[in-house]
Formats: sequence, C-alpha cells, structure tokens
Amino acid sequence: MVCFPLIHLNSTNEKTGLSFLLSILLGATFFTTVNSITVGVYEHRPAPSSALDTPLNTMKRNLVFYHRAVEEAASTNVDLIVFPEYGLHVSAPYSSRDGLLPYLQTIPAAWSSCQSTVQPASSVILHELSCMAASNQITLVVNLGTVRYCNTTSDINCPPDGRYQYNTNVVFNKTGHLIATYFKYNLFGEVNFDQPPLQHVLFEEGHTKFGLSICFDLLFKAPAIELVEQYAAQVVIMPSYWFNRIPFLALYEITEAWAIRTGVYLLVAGIHMPELAYTGSGVFGPAGVVNYTYVPDHNTEGKLVIANIPDSVQSQPESSAAVKRRSPVTNSDAGATFETKTNGDLFTYTEIKPGPDRSATVCQNELCCQLNYSWAAENFTNGFFGLGAFSGLHTENYTLCNEVCAVVRCGYKTTLDRHTPEVVCGDGMAKGAGGFSELSLQGTFSEGTFQFPTVLGSDARLMKSGDWRFEKEKGRLRLNAKDSKLLSFSLYGRCYDKDPA
Ligand SMILES: *[C@@H]1O[C@H](CO)[C@@H](O)[C@H](O)[C@H]1NC(C)=O
Ligand SMILES: *[C@@H]1O[C@H](CO)[C@@H](O)[C@H](O)[C@H]1NC(C)=O
Ligand SMILES: *[C@@H]1O[C@H](CO)[C@@H](O)[C@H](O)[C@H]1NC(C)=O
Ligand SMILES: *[C@@H]1O[C@H](CO)[C@@H](O)[C@H](O)[C@H]1NC(C)=O
Ligand SMILES: *[C@@H]1O[C@H](CO)[C@@H](O)[C@H](O)[C@H]1NC(C)=O
Ligand SMILES: *[C@@H]1O[C@H](CO)[C@@H](O)[C@H](O)[C@H]1NC(C)=O
Repeated sequence: MVCFPLIHLNSTNEKTGLSFLLSILLGATFFTTVNSITVGVYEHRPAPSSALDTPLNTMKRNLVFYHRAVEEAASTNVDLIVFPEYGLHVSAPYSSRDGLLPYLQTIPAAWSSCQSTVQPASSVILHELSCMAASNQITLVVNLGTVRYCNTTSDINCPPDGRYQYNTNVVFNKTGHLIATYFKYNLFGEVNFDQPPLQHVLFEEGHTKFGLSICFDLLFKAPAIELVEQYAAQVVIMPSYWFNRIPFLALYEITEAWAIRTGVYLLVAGIHMPELAYTGSGVFGPAGVVNYTYVPDHNTEGKLVIANIPDSVQSQPESSAAVKRRSPVTNSDAGATFETKTNGDLFTYTEIKPGPDRSATVCQNELCCQLNYSWAAENFTNGFFGLGAFSGLHTENYTLCNEVCAVVRCGYKTTLDRHTPEVVCGDGMAKGAGGFSELSLQGTFSEGTFQFPTVLGSDARLMKSGDWRFEKEKGRLRLNAKDSKLLSFSLYGRCYDKDPA
C-alpha cells in the first residue's frame, strides 16, 4: 500500500528508483525515512517595468522569470515550487481598487487544465501558469490577485463596486489542474484587497498534507497555527513580500522560529529587493533551517533554493511551551535597568556583564526574563549586550500582543545635540559578537503564549542548525556552539488570545 504514492514522484529520477529499491529491501518501516519530496522556493527580483507597460505586460515580464525558474527546478526533479507574494506585479503603480483591477485574474468556474480551448482574457495568466505546471510536471504555487464579482443587492458583504478583490494563492498540480485556492486572511494594510471569510485550505501531494498561508498570516493563530494544530498540515506554504525587521522579524528568522515551534516544514518564497531589506527565502523544518538564501548585496538577482523534505512527516505532538508564572527572582546580579525601543516597543533592559557562571534577570509587567551565561567579553569594544523584556501591545504599523525576552546587541547613537548619546538595542545592529560559552534563556510567559526562538548570527545571517536549540517543553533557548557570534538570541512570544478584536 505504501508503495503506490511513489508514482507522484518523477518516475524517471534516480531518487525514485533508490527509494523503490530500498522499500523492497528494507520493508515499510524504513520507507518513510527514505521517501522524500523535493521542493523549491524562488526568491524573485521583480522585472524592471516600463511606464508604457500594460498590466498584462508587467505580469508577463515577470512570468518570463517564473518560467526560467520552473525549468531549472524541473531539471533537478523538483516536485513542488513556490513563488513570492506580489511576485507578478510588485512595482505596479496603482493606488485604488479600480487601479488594481487590471492586474486581477478571474478564476473560471470549471477549470480544465492547459489543454482547454476556452481561454477568457481575464484568465490569461492562470492559463499560462497551468501550462507551465503541466509541461514541466511540477506542482506550482503562485500568488496573484483575483477578482470575484458579487451582487450588492443579494450579498450584504459585497463591496459597493460589486466585486471582491483577493490576494490569492493558486496551486496547479503536475497535470496543470487548479487544485487549491487560498485568499489571504490577515491583510497588511492592503486597502485595495478584501478580507475573505476565514478558511483553512489544504491539499495533498503524495503522503503529505500542505497548508496555505500568505506572509503576514504567519504572525496570527488563524489560519496558520490552526492549519497545523487542527488540520494536521505537515508542510505550510508561505509566499511573502516581507520587509526584514531586525532583531526579531527578519523573514527567514521568524519563519525558521515558526517551523521549530510548530514542528512542521515551512516553505517561504520572498521578493528579492535587498536594497529595501527584502531578501531571505528558504525551507525550514522542525530542526531549523534546511536550506535558504540570504543575499543582502544590491544589484543581485533572484534565486531558486532547493531542499528535500520527508514525505509523510509526522507532525510533532503539541506540547505546551508556556512556562508557569513564578514570582520574579530577586537576583543578586540584577543590575540597573533602562528603557529603550526595540521593534517599535519600549523594552526594559539590563546590561549583561562579562564573567563566568553568571545570571541576569529583567522584568516588565508580569514577564520576567532570566538568563544564565558565561561570557568572556574578549575583543568586545563597541557597546554591550542587553537582556530585555517586553510585555504588552505592539502598536507600530499593526496591533498585536507580544511578550518578548531578548538578548541583543546594544550600542550608542549620537543625538543631534551630540552630548547625550542615545542607547539603541537590537534595531539597526548588524555585527554579531561572540565569547559566550554558555547561554540559556527562559521567561515567565503567560499561559497560552507561543514562544518563537528568533536567533540571528553576525551580519543578520542564520546560525547553523544545531548551533543552538529550543527546548519546547521547558520554553528554554540554549546555545550549543561556543564560537558563535550573536546578534539576537531571543524568545519572541505571541499572546494570540490577548490580541485586540
Ligand atoms: C442581484 O440580486 C437581486 C436580488 O436577488 C436580483 O434581483 C438581481 O437580478 C441580481 N443581479 C444580478 C446582476 O445578478
Ligand atoms: C490533478 O488534479 C486533477 C483534478 O483533481 C486530477 O484529476 C489529476 O489526476 C491530478 N494530477 C496529478 C498528477 O495528481
Ligand atoms: C540549497 O539550494 C541550492 C540552490 O538551489 C542548491 O545548490 C543546494 O544543493 C541546496 N542545498 C541543500 C543542502 O539542499
Ligand atoms: C511602520 O512604522 C514606522 C514608524 O512609524 C514607519 O517609519 C514605517 O514606514 C512603517 N512601515 C510600514 C510598512 O508601514
Ligand atoms: C580575540 O581576538 C584574537 C585575535 O584576533 C582571537 O584569536 C580570539 O579568538 C578572539 N577571541 C574571541 C572570544 O573572539
Ligand atoms: C539558571 O540556573 C538556575 C540554577 O541552576 C536554574 O534554576 C534555572 O532554571 C536556570 N535558568 C535557565 C534559563 O537556564
């Protein structure tokens, strides 16, 4: 029975032959560890656009890159490829619902693959994508805008202009059939798109259940966390157009943390515009980064990242990472505290002093963050490390509940009067520093808070998987590799249940 799904893999590739052979030799128990799916995520640099381009031309210019990426992926036997959010019209100059309309596709009621002779003008891009999937025998996940007309008389939710405009993921299978459609639920100030009713959209390939999300969805419980907890998604797909915000919310950092915390694989395709802090796509899993690209250099092109992930992954049983609240430790090492903004929020910090076998604690409201460490602050000149706590509503750009324990680099920014340098922690820091031989962080997060281990090394790159570990049951973050240079070593907590309605 377990052998049949092999068919979904390219029957000509060596991998299939090998897993088929091994499954015969070793039997079914070994089978799941042998069988794998090859996935690709494409970080796309938007095609240069000309003022003379029609909306269709703009999208077709970008499709040329998609086509190239699909062919490259197919040549290395990739089963499924993901493209970024807004990838077909990132730089389109529109500022109203009407202006967006020409970029939107209509999903035909009955979709019949590439061969279909009927090809409405409003579905040209969908048609091309379908053909791309079919002719390369690859499952294609593409984000684009779609429109669905509605009746303002009979449908009370129908917008006044008589149409729903959705930020949409479409999925074409290897024969070019449209097998799933997901509308973005958590819009990030995207005023020209409508919020759909909440839906959890999944599809199956081989043994694996894939769930769909888009970008900002990642920071909320519905639908992303629910896809895993209630719908047993084993892989979550996330096209993105995500601005890297150091120290907790670089795209590849928070997505790595999310995969570790939820115990599933996460496929993240982002836009490549490093000059505006957009870069960092990859494949992340229960043990951290599997493969990723992060190219901050300007004037660089997009890139395909490939990874093998197990087919029929068992999702990890959910364990509560909430640590019971305890009374704040009155620590002899507790130093003076100060406040400064990180990620737009006013954190309470204490300075981490060099020395062996030390500890530090800092509290804000009910949240106390506790750190055990040994730090030889050799060669360390510029600034210091801070241990910070934030518990409350984050309100910059969007409003949500955060509880954060952070170990970040702090430095000084000269203010206009040049006399009172301002302390900055985390924000805008790029160079990591080392010297820690022990580092262990824990906090008294409120019950139900999800803690995401957001860790960055020097130059805002990910550390190697295995250089640190997150002990989910204890909610404890620990450093393994003593020679690591650190920029952020933090627990970014989301108290979903306390988000304002
Ligand atoms: C919209 O709904 C109303 C009430 O059901 C109906 O009379 C009308 O024909 C519908 N309009 C369109 C364009 O379908
Ligand atoms: C693609 O989906 C269609 C419609 O569900 C199905 O008939 C077809 O077998 C699928 N193709 C593959 C390769 O799974
Ligand atoms: C990561 O992706 C790159 C680019 O596709 C590929 O060359 C490399 O082999 C991949 N690494 C792993 C470990 O899969
Ligand atoms: C978020 O807020 C900051 C500070 O108000 C502002 O500088 C920035 O442009 C905003 N970003 C977005 C994407 O709205
Ligand atoms: C300090 O610098 C010296 C000389 O560059 C180097 O050998 C040593 O490893 C550094 N120590 C740390 C903790 O980075
Ligand atoms: C720090 O060490 C103390 C004493 O051994 C222990 O009780 C506490 O759990 C440790 N905290 C962390 C975050 O490892």
